[in-house]
Amino acid sequence: MEYKRIKVKASGQYEIIIGDGLIGSSADYIKEVTKAQNFAVITDDTVDSLYGEKVCGSLSAAGFNVCKFVFPHGEASKCSDTLLKIYSFLCLNHISRADCLVALGGGVVGDITGYAAATFLRGMDFVQIPTTLLAQVDSSVGGKTAIDLPEGKNLVGAFKQPKLVLCDTDTLDTLPEEFLIDGMGEVVKYGMIKSAPLFELLETRTLDNIKEIADNVIEQCVSIKRDVVEADEFDKGERMLLNFGHTLAHSIEQYYNYTGITHGKAVAAGMRMITGLAEKKGMAESGLCERLVSCLERYKLNVQVEPEVSQLGEACLNDKKRSGGSISVIICSDVGKSAAVKMPVDGFLKFLNE
Ligand code: NAD
Ligand code: GLY
Repeated sequence: MEYKRIKVKASGQYEIIIGDGLIGSSADYIKEVTKAQNFAVITDDTVDSLYGEKVCGSLSAAGFNVCKFVFPHGEASKCSDTLLKIYSFLCLNHISRADCLVALGGGVVGDITGYAAATFLRGMDFVQIPTTLLAQVDSSVGGKTAIDLPEGKNLVGAFKQPKLVLCDTDTLDTLPEEFLIDGMGEVVKYGMIKSAPLFELLETRTLDNIKEIADNVIEQCVSIKRDVVEADEFDKGERMLLNFGHTLAHSIEQYYNYTGITHGKAVAAGMRMITGLAEKKGMAESGLCERLVSCLERYKLNVQVEPEVSQLGEACLNDKKRSGGSISVIICSDVGKSAAVKMPVDGFLKFLNE
């Protein structure tokens, strides 16, 4: 079987391999990138019941020692308590720096396992096997790892590139629709910020048939993310473009206490709001917002949100893209064309309120 392969050249170099049925032969690919003999697979309970045996079985059959740590699914597990349990588990199983962690799951598993790999014994190899669309197009690539604090999401983290990303598109068959929709928010974002051809492809599909071309779509998204990460691995400039729609999205999620709306839907609303404003102020092509909205509708992402854009300004000021007295706002002037526009805080609040 010919799989799609994308090379990332960041502080660590690695490949992203995309295709169906990869998980069952994961050891064949993993053994090419690490000398480890002992593997600790980290996953959540839902993913474990679906794919745990396939991955552990493949590694055991290849002659490796395998242990597995399973935690309850959900964002609440991406915390210091789970992290400490992972460290204890690794100690109990005599995992050394020469060994390797395997993150099997969505972005929650990937982020916490990556952070454990960055910090346990001052750093060890890890491999990503993302099983949600969001993790396949976004979180497994680029080396951002983190856990949440009670004070906020992703507040403690590290840049740590994986040794390999194995994207098995078959895993999307078991993914509940709400999580497919969520991932599509990021897919539409990639088209908006960097790729008119991707956006045009999305305009010909719907949620019902997008999985048929999952490998093509994931390849395009990951190639865009690879280019951005290679240009700005440590998030000082270009990488900010990946946050199109996200500043408003975080405020919308905060408005709903992180329970009333999914991240993907909040990103969709954020992209729509900022594009509507940009268009009104002559910073974007006329008709762009309408085009974005009809694409979002195809993926059940065009949800109405309660707060008006003018109510979201204050919360936006806590955003990581604020620096001193200014904030960088990502604006798309047309499909596939994006830029970070630096605004003084006052000017930004005025921009939202007018
Ligand atoms: P998630 O990991 O919680 O997965 C969503 C749900 O789907 C979970 O309940 C999980 O058990 C289940 N699941 C996973 N794969 C499945 C499958 N194939 N079949 C059935 N069920 C499956 O959430 P997510 O949306 O994948 O990731 C969100 C996290 O990613 C957040 O914590 C966010 O901060 C992080 N993130 C990180 C980056 C980064 O660059 N590191 C980027 C974006 C998001
Ligand atoms: N998800 C944003 C980034 O990786 O930079």
